[in-house]
Amino acid sequence: MKRLVISTGGGDAPGLNAVIYAVVKAAYARGWEVYGSRGGYRGLLDPDELTRLTPEKVEGITPIGGTILGSTNKGNPFAMPVENLAGEIQIRDVSDRVMKNFRRMGFTCHVAVGGDGSLEIAHRFATEKGMPVIGVPKTIDNDLLATQLTFGFDTAVSTATNAIDRLHSTAKSHDRVMVVEVMGRESGWIALNSGISGGADVILLPEIPFDLDKVCDKIADNELHDKHYAIVVVAEGAKAKDHEVICKDNQGEIGRQEVLLGGIGEWVAQEVRKRTEKDTRSLVLGHLQRGGSPTTFDRLLALRFGAAAVRLIEAGKFNHMVALAGDGAMAAVPLEEAIKERKHVPLDCDKILTAREIGICLGD
Ligand code: F6P
Repeated sequence: MKRLVISTGGGDAPGLNAVIYAVVKAAYARGWEVYGSRGGYRGLLDPDELTRLTPEKVEGITPIGGTILGSTNKGNPFAMPVENLAGEIQIRDVSDRVMKNFRRMGFTCHVAVGGDGSLEIAHRFATEKGMPVIGVPKTIDNDLLATQLTFGFDTAVSTATNAIDRLHSTAKSHDRVMVVEVMGRESGWIALNSGISGGADVILLPEIPFDLDKVCDKIADNELHDKHYAIVVVAEGAKAKDHEVICKDNQGEIGRQEVLLGGIGEWVAQEVRKRTEKDTRSLVLGHLQRGGSPTTFDRLLALRFGAAAVRLIEAGKFNHMVALAGDGAMAAVPLEEAIKERKHVPLDCDKILTAREIGICLGD
């Protein structure tokens, strides 16, 4: 009998519950047990935060957004913010405590559902501490190279596309430039897919440092063609040529694994206003893109990932990440490979060509 522990780490993504559902159902079908670790590794640090997951407990969770286990992006056990007796927060390595609890509970394997950061932590546990791990890729940004797609991305794109669709009428009524900031730290997949589908005039991606003059030329060109409004979609990680990515103050979030991005949409809106004298407005879609029920595509992918993870455990093929291969089949990629590189938008890919051919300005 095997006993698994599953955790969800990093920013949440629609489809996490579907992974949990599939892991629990497939494991129980084999006569195994599953525990959930709440808040990333919290359950492996404090047994009170472990919860036994049974098929009854996960009934009906597949269409629900978020994660029934909770998640955090400040929970790296190798660099954990811990309060000392004087009430001060210190960064400590508590990974040995995680391993002690993992062994004490008799766990066979840890199913780590997460993005690049969480998979890197899982890889460290596998290589430095000997924890058998299976990774399941998650991120709405779709920026993991080792898998064709991650779940959550399709839902985020569809939320962003719906929002852009709605902006056309109000932008047109007021002859305005509407700048929409979408998520995408290092990869512009959400901006590109939703921008093309939503009929944006300009799409700005982290992969193409943009020239504001080109953006304003496109807005002027719209005017020439009797279109007095424009929709600009900008990824949070996009940057103007000779400028840095715009970050927010992280508001004292100690132990956070990555900087908080945000603000590029408003910056672009202000610059466009100055240069064109057009009325401009900006909005940030933010966490709306991470919320809500997963699309059918994301549910199915997440369920397939969960079931594939259990098959890997059965085969004893640990320290791998499940992935969607180019032929649409489930694949297993060594964790080491999986965390090596991010998936950026290739500048010669068909979507970039399509955008240019249908007259979308990419800021270059
Ligand atoms: O990595 C996914 C992501 O949604 C990024 O696009 C975004 O920058 C980040 O998470 C936001 O994280 P938080 O939950 O800390 O606001």
